Amino acid sequence: MFKKLSKYVKEYKKDAILTPIFVILEVVMEVVIPLLMARIIDVGIQNGDVKYIVEIGGLLIVCAILSLTFGMLSGRFAAKASAGYAKNLRKEMFHKIQDYSFENIDKFSTSSLVTRMTTDVTNVQMAFQMIIRILVRGPIMMIFALLMVLSISTKLSTIFFVAIPVLGVVLYYIAIKAHPNFERVFKKYDKLNRVVQENVSAIRVVKAFVREDHEEEKFKEVNDEVYRDFKKAEKIVAFNGPAMQITIYTCILLISWIGSQLIVGGTMQTGELSSIITYAWQILASLMMLSFVFVMVIMAQSSAERILEVIEEEPSLKNKENPVTKIKDGSIKFEDVSFVYSDEENKNKYSLQNINLDIKAGETVGIIGGTGSSKSTLVQLIPRLYDVTKGSVKVGGIDVRNYDIHALREEVAMVLQKNVLFSGTIAENLRWGDKSADQEDLEEACKLAQADGFIKEFPSKYETVLDQGGTNVSGGQKQRICIARAILKQPKILILDDSTSAVDTKTDALIRKAFREKIPNTTKIIIAQRVSSVEDADKIIVLNEGRINGIGTSEELLKTNNIYREVYESQMKGGDEEDAEN
Ligand SMILES: Nc1ncnc2c1ncn2[C@@H]1O[C@H](COP(=O)(O)OP(=O)(O)OP(=O)(O)O)[C@@H](O)[C@H]1O
Ligand SMILES: [Mg+2]
Repeated sequence: MFKKLSKYVKEYKKDAILTPIFVILEVVMEVVIPLLMARIIDVGIQNGDVKYIVEIGGLLIVCAILSLTFGMLSGRFAAKASAGYAKNLRKEMFHKIQDYSFENIDKFSTSSLVTRMTTDVTNVQMAFQMIIRILVRGPIMMIFALLMVLSISTKLSTIFFVAIPVLGVVLYYIAIKAHPNFERVFKKYDKLNRVVQENVSAIRVVKAFVREDHEEEKFKEVNDEVYRDFKKAEKIVAFNGPAMQITIYTCILLISWIGSQLIVGGTMQTGELSSIITYAWQILASLMMLSFVFVMVIMAQSSAERILEVIEEEPSLKNKENPVTKIKDGSIKFEDVSFVYSDEENKNKYSLQNINLDIKAGETVGIIGGTGSSKSTLVQLIPRLYDVTKGSVKVGGIDVRNYDIHALREEVAMVLQKNVLFSGTIAENLRWGDKSADQEDLEEACKLAQADGFIKEFPSKYETVLDQGGTNVSGGQKQRICIARAILKQPKILILDDSTSAVDTKTDALIRKAFREKIPNTTKIIIAQRVSSVEDADKIIVLNEGRINGIGTSEELLKTNNIYREVYESQMKGGDEEDAEN
């Protein structure tokens, strides 16, 4: 798995390779230093040879400086390599997510994607840095130091040959036990992020319903869960320290005891013993670091898996080979279309069944139906936000699956039911529809959407800054900006999904009148709850539980369709006044 991810090191490969090289050089210096110390004690001090002491002492200082320099360099390269690696991972994930279809996004939750791009990437970044530094340093240090001890005293080295495997097994056991706990922690992180994200993005709703206490309770619950699992995992890892200490002190006791006997017996010198003790520290410390890295890597493993899932997710909508890029006109045809949302719960629950429709270019079509009758689902198939399960949807006489997705969406502008504006000025938001639009284009589109008037009343006019999501404009104003943004694309098909629900009936009528006069060749599909919004359409589709219940003009439907007549009558009996408050 790490192998699959390792290709994203890319341009930081050089740093990733230089790191272990400098680590090795650093280790060599660190191993040489105790040896020189032993020389100074055993030869220089023993013989009272000042010249020798100065010479070796000088060498010692050079080695120490080199060791520091190499250590610093390896640290720098490691930091650069791992930070760069994380950057590349995030970039790749972000890039991948841009290609996700609605279906892919439905599969991962938004909060999970956020956790994966932040916490998980950080874990992998840390693990990567550890791997290229410590994972190289540990074993090499251990081997060098062991060789040194071996060259000084075979007898004392046996202590290590017993201690290292014992400690190794203990540390391995600790790491294995901690792993499932860490894995659980990351799952909980998703949940934590979801609670935070939902709360923050819906803070106004929370406040309006005075649900702060409830939300706090919900947050406390997950927060405590994360705390508990983390504590559990860390508790196990905490055994690392004592296990190490016991081993180190036992080893040093044994070394001193056996060593002192050897010195008394004349087979070993004081300096040699002191260097062996230094090597003992080095060996055991590298073992400890290895165990630490082991835990980190195991932790990062679950993170790496979660990153890979995002990178390897196949976008469910892809261009065919040689896709059609030119859309002839705005005619739309549904041929026996059925559709199922692909999530598990909905399997076999058809949201749309056997839909047949024929819409000519330039027509205005109204769609009406109760909530949950699949109006949004139906229109989402036209710009291919989802693919049909059965049958086919044709635009301009060609199946939408044969078009280049971008080309199709350029010509099919959709004002989504749950629409958002982005942080930035009104003009910037409008230019999402057309990057190169000049001020005149913007005003023209806004006039069509009946937005020009209120925008010009703002002190900064088109340069008025919108908060994230457009929270500082009214619901009806926001809807009109969204409509203008869609019109700027000059699409062949314009779909409004309940996009004038917050606009008063009079303005709503003005928008439709402008559509009729100014963009007669654009096919307009209008989903509405209000009969008055669709009354004057060329045809009205009545949807009921995912099926077409009736198609016709308002007049025809009043005669033939019960649902339409009921809605019409209930709304015409004074139902309109309630809309007029905006
Ligand atoms: N992303 C989704 N994943 C799974 N099921 C979905 C999804 N979106 C909608 N549905 C389901 O499909 C059905 C139709 O929903 P749809 O949003 O098309 O209704 P609608 O007619 O637009 O309703 P409304 O008037 O409230 O906007 C509903 O039963 C809904 O639960
Ligand atoms: Mg809807």
